[in-house]
Amino acid sequence: MRLENKVAIVTGGAKGLGGEMAQTFAREGAKVVAVDMMPLTYENENVEFYQLNVTDGEACKNFFEYVKEKYGRIDILVNNAGITRDSMTRKMTDDQWDLVIDINLKGVFNLTRYVGPYMEEIGGGSIINISSVVGEYGNIGQANYAASKAGVIGLTKTWAKEFARKGVPVRCNAIAPGYIMTDMMKTVPEELLKKFAGLTMLGRLGQPEEIAKAALFLASDDASYVTGHVLSVNGGMRL
Ligand code: CAA
Repeated sequence: MRLENKVAIVTGGAKGLGGEMAQTFAREGAKVVAVDMMPLTYENENVEFYQLNVTDGEACKNFFEYVKEKYGRIDILVNNAGITRDSMTRKMTDDQWDLVIDINLKGVFNLTRYVGPYMEEIGGGSIINISSVVGEYGNIGQANYAASKAGVIGLTKTWAKEFARKGVPVRCNAIAPGYIMTDMMKTVPEELLKKFAGLTMLGRLGQPEEIAKAALFLASDDASYVTGHVLSVNGGMRL
């Protein structure tokens, strides 16, 4: 029980990586609020669903007030909600660019602007931003997504400095997953998936639980001296 008595928020928590992280945290004793546009694809008595569009600033503020009021604290925030709208740059539309930046980057800011200072107020916390191997190294056909996920790394380092500046242990780290077997992979041509698996040292794509275990480490007190870090969990894709 590494998260006993902790309260966690996981955005994009209905399925995929977010669903796996929410359930892993609950198994370790946390009360979890999973935020998403769609209902949860699983049942867990320690995971509450809250419908929220992370691009809606006012709704994010209301959600923050709701969690504060109901649970009395927030110890962990995982900014995981994200989408892809892949296209070669020459064909990318304004809508494809704006939607990805709005959800993947502004959405991260929208909640953390309230939760980060609140963690300072209550004496500590752990913020985990889900970046990507694509944010670290770029990827053909993903200018919008790469920009958003690289931006998330900038936010991570900024918040690691900003929220701890008065000596309160608010930690902020990023996880940069490689290619993980979730619904997001459905748009990627089979041939490319094989290529990506071949680029890893371990010769395979990742599983959602392998990201959830990394998130559990960063969320827990086991990572009490880890902040401002980007943890690459990608099977050695870019060694
Ligand atoms: N590596 C090398 N070449 C690539 C490539 C790649 N990753 N992706 C595309 N190309 C090449 C194609 O082979 C093609 O080459 P030619 O011009 O010589 O024919 C050229 O680039 C144009 O590609 P397409 O014909 O496929 O162009 P399209 O407009 O039909 O499709 C695309 C473009 C939508 C970007 C499509 O290539 C695609 O879906 N690529 C996969 C993008 C991807 O990796 N997405 C990851 C989603 S998962 C995720 O993002 C999670 C995470 O964090 C990792």
